[in-house]
Amino acid sequence: MRTFSVALGARSYPVHVGAGILDQIGTLALEAGLHGGRIAIVTDSNVGPLYLRRVAEALDGSKFAPFTIEIAAGEASKSMAVLESIYDRLVRSGMERTGAIIALGGGVVGDLAGFAAATYLRGVALVQVPTTMVAQVDSALGGKTGVNHRAAKNLIGAFYEPRLVVADVATLNTLGEREYREGLAEVIKYGAIMDEALVGDLERNLGAIAARDGRQLEEIVLRSLRHKASVVERDEHESGLRRILNFGHTIGHALEAGFGYGRYLHGEAVAIGMVAAARLSENYAGLSTAESERLRALIAGAGLPVEMPPGWAGEEFSRALNLDKKRAGGGIEFVLLDRLGHALTHRISSEEIIERLSGQATV
Ligand SMILES: NC(=O)c1ccc[n+]([C@@H]2O[C@H](COP(=O)([O-])OP(=O)(O)OC[C@H]3O[C@@H](n4cnc5c(N)ncnc54)[C@H](O)[C@@H]3O)[C@@H](O)[C@H]2O)c1
Ligand SMILES: [Zn+2]
Repeated sequence: MRTFSVALGARSYPVHVGAGILDQIGTLALEAGLHGGRIAIVTDSNVGPLYLRRVAEALDGSKFAPFTIEIAAGEASKSMAVLESIYDRLVRSGMERTGAIIALGGGVVGDLAGFAAATYLRGVALVQVPTTMVAQVDSALGGKTGVNHRAAKNLIGAFYEPRLVVADVATLNTLGEREYREGLAEVIKYGAIMDEALVGDLERNLGAIAARDGRQLEEIVLRSLRHKASVVERDEHESGLRRILNFGHTIGHALEAGFGYGRYLHGEAVAIGMVAAARLSENYAGLSTAESERLRALIAGAGLPVEMPPGWAGEEFSRALNLDKKRAGGGIEFVLLDRLGHALTHRISSEEIIERLSGQATV
């Protein structure tokens, strides 16, 4: 097991990464300063049958009295209605402010249970136990919590940091192949925006990573989380630097919206978005064609899509691009690379983005 701390002053918290560490969760929670007692494990209908018992037993064996709140698996559960049902269960359990919530699952459970923890009694302790690649390398750390609204994803939420993150990489072995690979897109993202050496390591070890080798998983999850932590430590509330984490996401989000959620998994859309952003970086930020090609080859090698799909430049795509949250004063704060391993932002209009990408599209 490897451990580091996210340094946020009085709200600092430990992050543990390792294979098989679910069984230590009770001890780790006590070490992190939780007091024991009532603790709700929020999980979903896929993850519960796989890992709930081990987590509950580990807590039972310490000073905790766990109970379970299981939600239906899937993005649709990130809703006000399901959130309310969680509040109901917390109230019925008699949980007080000394209680705690564990989010055991992917990003859906993490965001939903995180928001419940942020708001129930104005805040109870939160423990993130991510079980998907996306959640382990991204959503478990950094404090973004929330639910979706009919009008848009993640419209309602709060920044609320966990008190502890426990990423057991052995849980990644039960993920479907597509769900596993989409998480790799976010790992590659950290390499592209802030760590050229990580790009090199990913290239060299792609075979072992694809085979979910335990040592490799521990390494890439740890490095990803460390990078995310270093950004969050400097800009927790996304007033500047944290925006670089959106590399590949402006176009990725527009593709998800343009083709309906469902055609692409988030990480797949981001993979295409990163390749497109690298191309734009050649025009606007001086990224060399060789480096841009290198990134594309790594993404393709990880089994992720790299081409804009036929018919991408539709109305939905432009509308989504314009709605992008990063939009400010007519332009989009677009994340570009001036070299592999270093990002910057540059304001580009959505018309220009579409024009440039159309000009370069291979038809
Ligand atoms: N808060 C943040 O900073 C942040 C960052 C990125 C994404 N997100 C959010 O995260 C969500 C996506 O997360 P996700 O991709 O983890 O989705 P998810 O939570 O829906 O998990 C994907 C699927 O995998 C299943 N699953 C989870 N762990 C498993 C395991 N170990 N073995 C087998 N199956 C398992 C789930 O039941 C689900 O069906 C989105 O709602 C997104 O908005 C949040
Ligand atoms: Zn993402």
